[in-house]
Amino acid sequence: MPIIAPSLLAADFLQLNNACEIMNRSEAEWLHLDVMDGRFVPNISFGIPVIQSIRKATPKIFDVHLMIEEPEKYAQAFKEAGANILTVHAEACRHLHRNLQQIKSLDLKAGIAINPHTPLSSIEEVLADADLVCIMSVNPGFGGQKFISSSLDKISRLKELILKKSLTTLIEVDGGVTLENAPQIVKAGADVLVAGNTVFSAPDPIKMIHDLKKIS
Ligand code: DX5
Ligand code: ZN
Repeated sequence: MPIIAPSLLAADFLQLNNACEIMNRSEAEWLHLDVMDGRFVPNISFGIPVIQSIRKATPKIFDVHLMIEEPEKYAQAFKEAGANILTVHAEACRHLHRNLQQIKSLDLKAGIAINPHTPLSSIEEVLADADLVCIMSVNPGFGGQKFISSSLDKISRLKELILKKSLTTLIEVDGGVTLENAPQIVKAGADVLVAGNTVFSAPDPIKMIHDLKKIS
């Protein structure tokens, strides 16, 4: 059974309490929080004060996806705001190994996200230093995009690599996940499914989370 991480980006920002209530009444384990800086990605979302506020409304694990440059400048602040997992983009980190160590030194789980064009070989040397690898199955910056089908092969190859190295690194898949493609994504090796629009645009988000959770 995959871990389900609904992405708050697709929620109604006028009703953040309601989104947290949905989380609390659902089987979702993680809340995925997409932070965008308008530099690494061509969009700006929300940041530290919003995360700090919603921390009071749900005890779920905060899976913070930093689509920002110089993430090392803000790691401590995200921890103080309530993050449990901090994922940085390989493409945004000139010293990725150092960034992962910094996150772990804050007692947080450390994740690496890679864009669709980024080869797995670029993170192979630091795989053992990451608790999670987030395979971007869309180009980051926006919710509601179509799943890039070549991501499936990339997920399988990453799974093989993790098994070959006897690691416990989780594979998270982010972007365009639907109830239709989720079984293939899980079969390819995904441990965590991020779902924005699929969950928050569903008529019954709690049932949708339940249906995604049932996939094996
Ligand atoms: C894209 C974000 C995703 C996004 C997913 O830049 O990283 O987490 O919220 O949204 P959906 O599931 O709607 O594609
Ligand atoms: Zn994300």
